[in-house]
Amino acid sequence: MPTSLTAIKSRSLHGRVRVPGDKSISHRALILGALATGTTKITGLLEGEDVLATGEALAALGAGVEKKGADWIVHGRGVGGLGAQPEKLDFENSGTGARLMMGVVAGQDVRTIFTGDESLSRRPMGRVLNPLKRMGLNVEGEADTLPLTLTGTHDLVPIEYELPVPSAQVKSAVLLAGLHAPGKTTVIEKQPTRDHTERMLSHFGAEIAITHENKQTAITVTGNAELSGKDVTVPGDPSSAAFLAAAALITKEADITIEGVLVNPTRTGFYETLKEMGADLEYENIREESGEPVADIRVLSSPLKGVSIPAQRAPSMIDEYPILAVVAAFASGETRMEGLGELRVKESDRLASTLAGLKACGVDADAGEDTLSVSGGKGVPGGGRIETHMNHRIAMALLVMGLGAENPVTIDNAAIIATSFPGFAELMHTLGAQLQETET
Ligand code: S3P
Repeated sequence: MPTSLTAIKSRSLHGRVRVPGDKSISHRALILGALATGTTKITGLLEGEDVLATGEALAALGAGVEKKGADWIVHGRGVGGLGAQPEKLDFENSGTGARLMMGVVAGQDVRTIFTGDESLSRRPMGRVLNPLKRMGLNVEGEADTLPLTLTGTHDLVPIEYELPVPSAQVKSAVLLAGLHAPGKTTVIEKQPTRDHTERMLSHFGAEIAITHENKQTAITVTGNAELSGKDVTVPGDPSSAAFLAAAALITKEADITIEGVLVNPTRTGFYETLKEMGADLEYENIREESGEPVADIRVLSSPLKGVSIPAQRAPSMIDEYPILAVVAAFASGETRMEGLGELRVKESDRLASTLAGLKACGVDADAGEDTLSVSGGKGVPGGGRIETHMNHRIAMALLVMGLGAENPVTIDNAAIIATSFPGFAELMHTLGAQLQETET
């Protein structure tokens, strides 16, 4: 039986809290640990279902992955050294896990079947398979959705590849495969996407060169690389912190601090946008951890105004549009978001589910093929019962809506939240938010 969760109007959210580790960095830390020689110690790994599925896939391929106290230890097998032959690998709900691991499997001497849940089995994989096939990955059949039977090889060839969509997952898959090919593999991106793979490859000792020319970035990795195991501290996930920041802004008398959040500029479009909307939000105690910038983020309740968000900002806040749309409902005037095409191919069509959620709560909103407009500041009735469509971010965004709306908001499936944010409801309770579970 799925458990539904109801959010009730709340006020005076207070406290200093930490959110779980960054999802993107957690996947990458496990993967690079497995491709390194020696031992990698990961502190603060996100123990969400997506990341654990990647850990299990790496273990099935022959890496040692174990929890020791609060840390995770990965015993790597070296680049190209994942020699076990699992019949299948199940990535559950995780697009990042499946796509990055396609880049890894491309360079191993292994034939295996990639599978996932219903949502992942609908998502496009061609964007990753196309460049990987050019490098030498064998894909059985014509389909570009899971399940897929893939055979890797120790004879990959390096390529130069211009990203047809601004996707860090595609970039990362090609770079991970490139580690296994002789010579240099280059990915060219016209719009910057999250750069954790590049940063972490360099942390693990790979040779990475990054050049900027004619508004394009070229990232080159030198293959037949030798990575060595490292310690990695995973900072708090800004995409998870976004729900707490939004809750503080749209409720009365809030003053919260979220400690140790990743503030890499390729990830902070949401926070920049909030400041433009008038949010009382500060980065405090900015520092660096494992090659990534980190800060404590203090957020107070604030009156907000609608803004226009340009399409170029989309890659730096791609996962934050559902929660931004919720914030916009509480801001005066119109908020217009452009360049949202990629939202249609996330865990569910996030543009459609965001619009449906807003409307179910009585908010005036409209969507085009890749745009969303929200007319805010007219009062938010709430009262909706939301179908989450196996989408963790829709679930959390609409619960936050319920904390500020006049009437409670209920989501149909609370379990999906553990995909990226285990302990979400408990953490919100410690801040003073009212969330109630009900069996359905
Ligand atoms: C991710 C990249 C983004 C993002 C996803 C995680 C990553 O996807 O939506 O949650 O870790 O590389 P795309 O790069 O496909 O847009």
